[in-house]
Amino acid sequence: MSSVKNMPSDSLGIQDARTGKNYSFPVEQGHLRAVDLEQVKTSDTDPGLVSYDPGLINTAICKSRITYIDGERGILRYRGYPIEEIAEKKSYLEVAHLLVKGEFPSPSEMSDWEHNITYHTLLHENLKVFMGGFRYDAHPMGILVGTLGALSTFYPDAKNVRDEESRRLQIYRLIAKIPTIAAFAYRHSQGRDYIDPSNDLSYAENFLSITFRPSVSTRYEVNPELAKALDVLFVLHADHEQNCSTNAMRAVASSLADPYSCAAAAAAALYGPLHGGANEAVVQMLREIGSVDKVPDIIRDVKAGKRRLMGFGHRVYHNYDPRAKIIKKMAGKVFEIRGTNPLLDIALELERIALSDEYFISRHLYPNVDFYSGLIYQSMGFPTDMFPVLFAIPRMSGWLAQWQEGVMDPEQKIVRPKQIYLGPAERHL
Ligand code: ACO
Repeated sequence: MSSVKNMPSDSLGIQDARTGKNYSFPVEQGHLRAVDLEQVKTSDTDPGLVSYDPGLINTAICKSRITYIDGERGILRYRGYPIEEIAEKKSYLEVAHLLVKGEFPSPSEMSDWEHNITYHTLLHENLKVFMGGFRYDAHPMGILVGTLGALSTFYPDAKNVRDEESRRLQIYRLIAKIPTIAAFAYRHSQGRDYIDPSNDLSYAENFLSITFRPSVSTRYEVNPELAKALDVLFVLHADHEQNCSTNAMRAVASSLADPYSCAAAAAAALYGPLHGGANEAVVQMLREIGSVDKVPDIIRDVKAGKRRLMGFGHRVYHNYDPRAKIIKKMAGKVFEIRGTNPLLDIALELERIALSDEYFISRHLYPNVDFYSGLIYQSMGFPTDMFPVLFAIPRMSGWLAQWQEGVMDPEQKIVRPKQIYLGPAERHL
């Protein structure tokens, strides 16, 4: 082991106080290889030092070229482009292309991409029967998770994850079919017939149409401004680097499972109230508060540790979530079309008080993407249990971009973390 004094400048020197030994570990692009720590031992039988990181707070599980976040400065970029520019100038399908393929499409690439996605939106009739088997009151997110998993049995070719052509096809299918599954999950809960997708509508328009059209025989005009607002929400939710659901996608993909099974796992992770279920929890919380004058009571409970302010705080952002800023502006436009949402006043008052309160300031708790998105979805006519489903639709492109990157990464290994065993030592009956 080299002495700390003679260490190369691109390395980290550690002295183990237990043994007095010095170690020098290479540092590359701001990271240390966790396996290097195995060299740090107190004896030959010691398995070596491990890092303990519940929640993977400071552990990079991959090298990625897709999404960049600087949580301190409130920056989010997809493939280098700031989210603010993308949300203003690009459609969700262009963004999905950027995430999956690395660049925005040229006009001819866009027409191929759009065509391929549009022509994979239909669901196999047996899948409709499968979805019909859920109880009438099944949570649409549960239906989505189950149906994504079931898709793997419809496309056994998807198991060839090392095959580029197969990957391309599954990416079209998953981005194309998730709005159809989402719409059917909603219609199932309403007891309505399923309406097949319309190829002449845009991605967001088609989704709104097959969700809200009263029946196959009824005409339904999608409001283009609402479709545009939904498309922007899709752009904002498309990827967010190594979040809980993306980590689930990558972890399952590391065993080379097919992408439908991976996506079902990712959607299951998104179901939880600390992740994709947060926007549903925000609206429930605002309803429960009921009126602006009750806001100080809820703030008091939060500060006493009795509850959390849903839609506030983020593992990565310790500043205003850049997506929340865009959504807050967009909420105004949607409310102009649909009429104001009475819960908005409560949300604004909560934000005002929280942003000036020492408890939230000292913990860097700001509104996250979910604080206002639920109010917009509600104004568009979606019931709260559809909110996480609306998150999953665009996140599919991010999951797939990350899945593909992981599958193609020669350094990627099956995910198999370590544990610190604290159970009984050997004992006998
Ligand atoms: N309300 C009140 N206090 C909070 C909140 C909140 N929403 N979030 C964090 N805190 C407090 C914690 O109590 C803790 O305080 P302490 O130091 O006195 O114990 C401190 O802030 C740090 O909290 P952690 O739980 O350690 O932060 P972590 O990074 O693990 O959690 C999370 C991030 C899960 C998002 C959390 O902020 C939270 O539960 N927020 C509400 C749920 C939510 O909005 N989730 C959506 C996230 S965005 C997304 O997934 C798309």
